[in-house]
Amino acid sequence: MSYPTISRVKFYCDLVLSLLNLVFGRVYSKPIPPAADLTGKIAIVTGGNSGIGLNIALELVRQNATVYLACRNASKAREAVSYIISAVPNSADRVETLLLDTSSFSSVRECAERWKKSKSTIDILIHNAGSPSTPNGQPFTIDGFPMLYATNLLGSFLLTHLLEPCLSHRARIIFTSSTGQYAGKFKPTFSLGTVKNRLEPGFHAPIAAVKADGTAKDSVLYSNTKAMQVAFAKLLYNRWEGAAKANGTRNQRVAHAFTPGFTMTPIFGKAMTRTIWEDPALWILKATTILATDVSCGAATGVWLATTEDEAVMGEGMGGGYWERMTRRVAKVDLMSTEQLERFWIRWEADAGIVWK
Ligand SMILES: NC(=O)c1ccc[n+]([C@@H]2O[C@H](COP(=O)([O-])OP(=O)(O)OC[C@H]3O[C@@H](n4cnc5c(N)ncnc54)[C@H](OP(=O)(O)O)[C@@H]3O)[C@@H](O)[C@H]2O)c1
Repeated sequence: MSYPTISRVKFYCDLVLSLLNLVFGRVYSKPIPPAADLTGKIAIVTGGNSGIGLNIALELVRQNATVYLACRNASKAREAVSYIISAVPNSADRVETLLLDTSSFSSVRECAERWKKSKSTIDILIHNAGSPSTPNGQPFTIDGFPMLYATNLLGSFLLTHLLEPCLSHRARIIFTSSTGQYAGKFKPTFSLGTVKNRLEPGFHAPIAAVKADGTAKDSVLYSNTKAMQVAFAKLLYNRWEGAAKANGTRNQRVAHAFTPGFTMTPIFGKAMTRTIWEDPALWILKATTILATDVSCGAATGVWLATTEDEAVMGEGMGGGYWERMTRRVAKVDLMSTEQLERFWIRWEADAGIVWK
């Protein structure tokens, strides 16, 4: 099997298909991942207490995996555990919680430290926690980064780095990205030098999207972080491939990203802190939730990527993909050169305060 063709024509075709999926996803046939047996496998799902993450966790438990719900709110996490245990017979000893706030470096580090002490191997890591809107009055994290950049990207970058030694040799890392990644905007001249003065605040937001108070529009930060998740999946996979090649071995780990399309979850209730003028995209989504698919439909591609042995997902050279409805699509970052993508990595390392060897 060869790596899928990436071309500008295919990109625009996939973009149109994705837009159609946003509007008509509900009437399309539902993607149904074949059941797998995950007995003995260990999975972590961030943001596993709600919506798509909860549904992915539920399906993984149904398929006999042991699943850790990594959540920022302990009581919500416990409620989610009770829900899963009541839905899946004999699962009480296979659903656990971890405390994790992806917007805080100290929380990410504590979570990773606790995991390392348990000495468990991770087979599946789903980076699902995310938010489309900056909480009122909290544009920046305690570490000084735009809230959405840290929540949606930087926290998972640091967590993956810290947990990498715990990954199994066939581990999969899956990102819940978004169709919004198509709207990700990066300057063609993007380089470490040219972004330097725009780093804080509004990092990675085109300068036109930065508001008078120095913060960037949520819709811009959201789509940029969702595009960065796709870039992260691709770069991480390329690094594993490169390392294996250098060692004369075969890499069997994969990283992939997917869009759930437009899915009815609590996210739209949490997201409305902006006026329609400040964030029209969110208001449009909120006003049209009648078009949204049910949560199992939105989660299906994530479940499939986490469980399938399909060559298109797990085959040699096939990682680093972006998926919708269990079909590979060309993403915005697929049009960027490796050199441009690598600059992201260097920036994320600097922001997370790590050197990822
Ligand atoms: N629904 C859609 O149509 C749609 C479309 C495209 C992409 N997505 C993506 O899908 C993912 C899941 O969203 P959803 O629709 O299922 O919404 P959701 O039900 O609100 O789930 C989001 C999850 O992320 C958690 N979370 C948010 N910020 C966090 C942080 N700083 N640390 C740890 N956890 C955090 C939330 O925790 P709390 O419960 O404590 O808030 C919740 O568990 C997100 O990444 C979202 O961007 C959704």
